Amino acid sequence: MTLEAVLLVGGQGTRLRPLTIATPKPMLAVAGVPLLTHQLARLAAAGVTHAVLGTSYQAHVFADHFGDGSALGLELEYVTEADPLGTGGGIRNVADRLRAGPDDPVLVLNGDVLSGHSLRTQLAEHRRVGATVTLHLVEVTDARAFGCVPLDADGRVTAFLEKMDAPVTNLINAGCYVFTRRLIDDIPCGRPVSVERETFPALVAAGARVQGYVESAYWLDLGTPAAFVTGSADLVTGKVPSPALPGPAGDYLVLPGAAVAADSALTGGSSVGRGCRVEEGAWIDRSVLLDGAAIGGGSLVRSSIVGRRSTVGDGCVLTDAVLGDDVIVGAGNELLAGIRLFPGAVLDEGAVRFSSDLA
Ligand code: GTP
Repeated sequence: MTLEAVLLVGGQGTRLRPLTIATPKPMLAVAGVPLLTHQLARLAAAGVTHAVLGTSYQAHVFADHFGDGSALGLELEYVTEADPLGTGGGIRNVADRLRAGPDDPVLVLNGDVLSGHSLRTQLAEHRRVGATVTLHLVEVTDARAFGCVPLDADGRVTAFLEKMDAPVTNLINAGCYVFTRRLIDDIPCGRPVSVERETFPALVAAGARVQGYVESAYWLDLGTPAAFVTGSADLVTGKVPSPALPGPAGDYLVLPGAAVAADSALTGGSSVGRGCRVEEGAWIDRSVLLDGAAIGGGSLVRSSIVGRRSTVGDGCVLTDAVLGDDVIVGAGNELLAGIRLFPGAVLDEGAVRFSSDLA
C-alpha cells in the first residue's frame, strides 16, 4: 500500500519576519537545508512514497526547489490555495490528489515542526485502536502558552481546550496527525477551516474516536526566532537526528563555498551557509548565517540569525538579533535582545551601541 502524507506549508510565518518576507518559513535553511527537507527526508525514511504540499504564501518557491521530489525518493505534488484556507481547508484542498482508500491512513504534518517521534508507531497506534484521527501529543512543562488536549485512560481525546492560566494537562497538539482518508473528504470544501478549532472539536463532540499518541521525543515548533535558532543548533549538534543533515553532526556546520578564518570560533551548533565569510577573531555562537552572509573581524554573533547576503562589520555584537536579507551593519554596532532589521536596512558605523554608553 502507498503511504501518503500531506504537508501544510501555506502559512505566512509572521512571527519569523523579516526572514519570511522573501522566503516561506518551511523553506528557510535550518542546519544547511530547508526545514521542509528535514521533514520530507524523515517521511521518506518512514516509508512515505507520495506527498502533497498544501501551499499558499509564495507557493512557487516549493516546486522550484523540490520539483518532482525524486532527489528525496518521494513523489511530490503541489496544490495552491488562491486565498489561504487555514489548516483544515488546506488539507481538504489536496484531497483529489490522494490515492489512499477511504479507510486508509494519511499522515498530515504542519510544515514548521521538527520532531524526532516515531511516525511508524503513531501509525500503528492509529490502526490498533481504529481511530478516525490520531494526534501526536507532547508534554510540555508549562502549557499556558498553548491550547491543551486532555485524554481519558484509553488515550481518547476528551476536549480541545484553548489557552488558559491553569491548564488541566500539559499535553499539547504537536501538529502531526494520522487521518483516516474519509475524514479528509468530509472536511467542508472551499472555505477556511481550522482543524484545531473546528474539525477536531466537532469529532470529539460527535463521539468519534480521536486518539492521542503521546511520545515525548524531541519536538520543537520553529515558528519564532528563538525556536528557529534552537532547532538549527539541535540539528547541527545531532540532538535531533535528521537524514538530511548535510554533514556530520558536531559543534558547527560549514557549507561548501564558505570561507572561515582560522582564528575565528564557531560554537554551540552554529551553521554557516554557502558562500559565507567569517573573518579573523569573529565568534559565531549558536547562530545561523544564511547563504552569502559575512561577519567582520572580532565580531560576536550569539543566538542570532543573519539573512542572506547580509554583512556585519568589524567589532559588532549581535545577541538574539534577526537580520533580514541584504542588510548592511557598519562596524562597531551592538544589536541586542530581539532586535530585527528588515531586508536592505543599512546601519552606519557605531549607530547602535549600549554598553559603551553606560560606561
Ligand atoms: P505565524 O504567522 O507566525 O503564526 O506562522 P504560520 O503562518 O505558519 O501559522 P502557524 O504556525 O499557525 O501554521 C501551522 C502550519 O500550518 C504551518 O506549517 C503553516 O505553513 C500551515 N498553514 C497555516 N495556515 C495555512 C493555510 O491557510 N493554508 C495552508 N496550506 N497551510 C497553512
